Amino acid sequence: MNVQWYPGHMTRAKRQMQEDIKLIDLIIELVDARVPYSSRNPDIDELGKNKSRLILLNKADLADASVNDAWVEYFRQNGFFAVKVDSRKGTGMKNIQDMIREACREKMERDRKRGIRNRPVRAMVAGIPNVGKSTFINKFTGRACTKTGNKPGVTRGKQWIRINKDVELLDTPGILWPKFEDQDVGIRLACIGSVKDDILNMEELALWLIDYLISSYSGVLADRYNVAEEGTAVEILEQIARARGCLKKQEEIDYGKAAGILFDDFRSGRMGRISLEKPNENNK
Ligand code: G4P
Repeated sequence: MNVQWYPGHMTRAKRQMQEDIKLIDLIIELVDARVPYSSRNPDIDELGKNKSRLILLNKADLADASVNDAWVEYFRQNGFFAVKVDSRKGTGMKNIQDMIREACREKMERDRKRGIRNRPVRAMVAGIPNVGKSTFINKFTGRACTKTGNKPGVTRGKQWIRINKDVELLDTPGILWPKFEDQDVGIRLACIGSVKDDILNMEELALWLIDYLISSYSGVLADRYNVAEEGTAVEILEQIARARGCLKKQEEIDYGKAAGILFDDFRSGRMGRISLEKPNENNK
């Protein structure tokens, strides 16, 4: 993770978010489509109460297509507007503008009744580190936008980016903390690369991922590494190491190197589209 969270950091982020939230109508919350539960901030519902809400399942290109649809449905059933997107390629961006209007319809209606016209909806992007906030903002705002500049008094130091006549976006995202207290969440965030690798035991993490893939995506490891999906996770990691020539001196198996290859392939999508969480299974 780019940010190492500790209490001071968290307090500052929360305070900043509380300040920014006063300026906006809509929170665009980014989650990682492979782990939508684990990549949600634990306090965002509380922080964002009384605001319109839109959840973006970002990196949808890396996650299982049918599981993405199940998550969109799950969030909708729980009262959120939700869209799947690939911020790198820009897939799904067109839907978002419609969805923002939809999410803010009541507010726009209220404004209209009060005779307030031409007041755009103000939105901000928020999420835990590495979910793709900056990538999304760049792609969504594109070249067509005009920065509206600082608004003296009310929004000093803040830049608003005009998306269209109805929507303005705060140019800096709210960076929030993940759910640290839940160990399973930590493991899944580590698998997608959102926790610094050097503070983790990558080999143990690889064993977790192998067990998960064998039970939920059987055939994926066999296809990629030409290994038999039999035996313990350690035995399978050993097969991967042999298949990829990860050997130290005296033919000793280099498990660490094999784990590195496994994670590179998984995180980059070379192993295929894989989701680590499905709705209702992990939402404790
Ligand atoms: P953040 O602001 O929330 O911390 O995240 P950021 O935009 O920096 O994105 C983190 C990483 O996720 C970047 O990769 C970025 O390219 C990638 N990313 C963002 N959105 C998507 C998406 O929809 N699909 C895919 N496949 N990847 C996405 P990186 O490897 O850290 O950087 P880079 O190699 O792209 O420069």
